[in-house]
Amino acid sequence: MSVTDTNDVQTLSIVILISGRGSNALAILDAIEQNRLCASLQMRAVIADSRIDQPAAGLARMAERGIDTALVDPSAYSDRTGFEQALAEVINSFEPDLIVLAGFMRVLSAAFVEQFEQRIVNIHPSLLPNYRGLHTHQRALDADDKKHGASVHWVTAELDAGPVIAQAEVPIEPGDTADTLAARVLIQEHRLYPSSLALLAQTTVLRQYDTTPKHLLLDRDFDDAGRLLADTDCN
Ligand code: GAR
Repeated sequence: MSVTDTNDVQTLSIVILISGRGSNALAILDAIEQNRLCASLQMRAVIADSRIDQPAAGLARMAERGIDTALVDPSAYSDRTGFEQALAEVINSFEPDLIVLAGFMRVLSAAFVEQFEQRIVNIHPSLLPNYRGLHTHQRALDADDKKHGASVHWVTAELDAGPVIAQAEVPIEPGDTADTLAARVLIQEHRLYPSSLALLAQTTVLRQYDTTPKHLLLDRDFDDAGRLLADTDCN
């Protein structure tokens, strides 16, 4: 992944892919615009995969904030390959360093992922490798887990299986339902994603991920600004 170097300030340019409400995309934009990150991120566009007659709610929210938006409607293409080619063209037109999946609910083909090798990240609502796929909150409750959370990870051809970059933990409380747990995890997602992107904008940290299987935990290893805390050696 290249990081644009402008006047000694390293800027990581991103496009965000969404399918629905886009609250994570909004949280990232808020963190950027309120200068809460210790790195420079530039949001170039938000792209949705929804139908043109049912656009993802998040698109309008981002457009209102002055962000470029685009929609690639899968029903306009005869097959997945055609859709993914169109999606790749739209992404490339914004020339991002990094592609950020935020509630993008479509499984991408290996060919698509490989053309953007090490340039796609995702947020998943579980402590990976636990609970890849859907219904993560209910599955954590059914397993009687004591903690749950969210993970930011590299996207590889295997669904939700790429190397974890960072996680945020959430305790499971007595009486939790899938909805109450999802709401509590989402609050942490809104902290985790902007701060993880700030971590990625720091190339030294990025190289560390390439060589170690260890991932970082929000509040233990780094803060909301994406600033590494002193004690990064604990497991
Ligand atoms: C988030 O909870 C995100 O972790 C999840 O969808 C939600 C999107 O919310 N993603 C996945 O489940 C991906 N497998 P948002 O549209 O409000 O950001």
